[in-house]
Parts: sequence; C-alpha cells; structure tokens
Amino acid sequence: MTATRLQNIPESATIKMSNLASELKSQGYDVISFSLGEPDFDTPEHICDAAKASLDRGETHYTPSPGIPELREAIAEKLNQDNNIETTKNNIIVTPGAKQAIFEVILSVLNKGDEAVLFDPAWVSYDPAIMLTGAKTVWAATKRDNGFSPVDVNDYITPKTRLIVVNSPCNPTGSVYDKSTLKEIADIAIDKNIMVLSDEIYEKITYDREHISIGSMDGMQELTITVNGFSKAYAMTGWRLGYVNAPDDIYKPMMKLHSHSVSQATSFVQYAGIAALQGDQSCVTDMVREFRVRRDVLVDGLDKLGIKCARPDGAFYAFADVSKYGTGEEVAGLLLNRAYVAATPGGAFGDAGRDFLRISYATSQERIREALERMEKVLELV
Ligand SMILES: Cc1ncc(COP(=O)(O)O)c(C=O)c1O
Repeated sequence: MTATRLQNIPESATIKMSNLASELKSQGYDVISFSLGEPDFDTPEHICDAAKASLDRGETHYTPSPGIPELREAIAEKLNQDNNIETTKNNIIVTPGAKQAIFEVILSVLNKGDEAVLFDPAWVSYDPAIMLTGAKTVWAATKRDNGFSPVDVNDYITPKTRLIVVNSPCNPTGSVYDKSTLKEIADIAIDKNIMVLSDEIYEKITYDREHISIGSMDGMQELTITVNGFSKAYAMTGWRLGYVNAPDDIYKPMMKLHSHSVSQATSFVQYAGIAALQGDQSCVTDMVREFRVRRDVLVDGLDKLGIKCARPDGAFYAFADVSKYGTGEEVAGLLLNRAYVAATPGGAFGDAGRDFLRISYATSQERIREALERMEKVLELV
C-alpha cells in the first residue's frame, strides 16, 4: 500500500544515532552526544526579542509565499555584500529551513534518468532528495590528504549530468574549498551548462580559510542556486528558517513547489531573520571563537589517542579516521555502548567515510574532554 519511491531511501543516520543516544539517556545513562549538527548555544537575545515583538504586533497570519519583502531584501543585500552574488529580492525564496530549499531545488532541476554529482562524503539528505526524482547520484572522489577537496571532477561528468552539489564548508568533513577547486567546478559547469547547487549553511563558521561563494565567480550567476539559512550561524535550528537564491528559470518551478507544499516560512520567524541579518554580528564571532577552541581540544585529544584527524577549516565537525580500531560503524557502536559517547559512522555520508567517525563538537569543552577520557579507556581494550 505504500509508495515505492520511498522504499530504498534510508532513514537519516544522524537522527538514528541521536535516537539511540536518547534511548540510553532515558535509561539513566550519562550519554555525551557528538552526533547532532546543532549548535548548543542559545539563540541570541535580540533575535528572540524580534520574534516576540512580531507576535505582539499580531503578525501571525499568512505572508507572501516567497517570504516578507523586508526579509527578502535583507537577504539579497547580504548576498550582494558578503558573498559578491548579484541578486535582488525577486530571486529569493524564504523557506522553513535550508533543507526545504534543498529539496525544492533538487525537485525543480532533476528529471528521471539525469545524473547529479555529489562529492564523497556528503551530507546525508542530498542523496535521498536525488533518489526521489528518479535521477542517479554519481559519487565523485575527494582527496583525503587535501582536506577532502574534490579532485578530477571532470571524470564524473557525462552528457546526463544536470547538477553538481557543492557544500563548502562541508558537513561531514569540515573542508572549505579553495578558489582553484571552485574554479575547476565552475569551468566545468560553464563549459557543459550544468547547474550548481551551492549549500553555504556553514559559511560563517570558518577558521583559517576564507569562504568563497561559487555563485560570485565569472559566468556562474545564471548557473548557481545558492542555499543558506539561519540554523548554524545564529543557533536557530528549531526556528526553521532558510533561503534560496535562484536564477529566473529555476525560481519559477521552485515557487510552484513552495506555494503548493509549505506555502511560506512562519510569519514571526521571518521577522527574527531580519534581526539576525541586520543586528550585531558579534554573537556569530563569539560562537565561532568558542567552536575553534573546541575543535582544537578535540583534534589534539584524538591525536593523543592515535586517531588521525585533519584539523577542519570550517563547520563544527571533525572527521576522524578510526581504522586503527575498526570501521566507523563498529567504533561508533563500541563508543555508544561502552563509553556512552554518541558519534555518527562516516559511512552514512558515502563510501569514502567507511573508516571514519563524524564527531560534532557543538558541545562544551568539559564534555569534549570527558568524552576523550572515556574513549581512551574503551579503545585501549580493543
Ligand atoms: C550541509 C547541510 N545543509 C543543510 C542543512 C539543513 O539546515 P536547516 O536546519 O536550515 O534545514 C544541514 C543541517 O544539518 C546541513 O548540515
């Protein structure tokens, strides 16, 4: 009785691991969770105040489907100023989370039989979205000793390629692509007329490397669909607020999907989005400063355990090679059941991640230190 299109789609591995951790917690175990991609900071006060003020003004009704004009204008201004992407509010759709934007893009671009390139390993939800369209995911290699940057991208392009997904800074590797990598992808997209979906949700969380938007590169304006959101930079995961900037011909079908499905993002949350973009950005800098310290505590600690882990340039994930102790799946099971430390097996993000664990360091320094101590005790028995 159920639709076949969903039968081969796996459940989200990150959510599965966090459910297992919650189950142990409910049995009274003190589980340290490294599994979810969610900042542990509170949403900054001025953003909460803007939502409260909006509620007090009675802004609780439907808004225009693509979003309130003031927020779309603020987003367009941000893209022009921060990202060098030339756009106007007429190309912006505000969505309930970046995830919705990504689904709308993929469903609007791909047909059955098309191919979409993902760089292996990649965030867990791109492949299921591609599968829903009947298109095929082509997994393209990344270079491990080059911080998991794509290599030889052209080898994965065929006449059927319609979309390349770029996610820099990357979940799960923390890799931030440099200009030459992005140029290689841009040159192929221009030469072969392929669309690029650039998921820039971690753009504000970078350490020593500058984030570059592929949509700002020469010739890429009409070929790039840029997705971003408020969840990670402003600790707003539960608010569900994201956006997409799309060229005219993709914008129109996306708007059909958007208006017939979610209608719009929540009214008062959109006002909070304006406060986030136009308010003081020191809240973002403060969070990133803390993430950097945690990253170093974690990577240095893993190094002492003999676990190889490149120091990530962005996002809040460490992608650790645990092959000394087993596959990512085996080590994740061991750590959860014996050390009560929850991390996600790297294989959930693609075959290239089989020997890895994705460790989300969006948790306090004390908890990271404690987790490392617990890991040491369990792993020395292996
Ligand atoms: C790479 C990537 N893109 C998109 C999202 C979705 O973000 P949102 O909370 O805005 O839906 C996530 C969330 O984990 C992510 O890691």
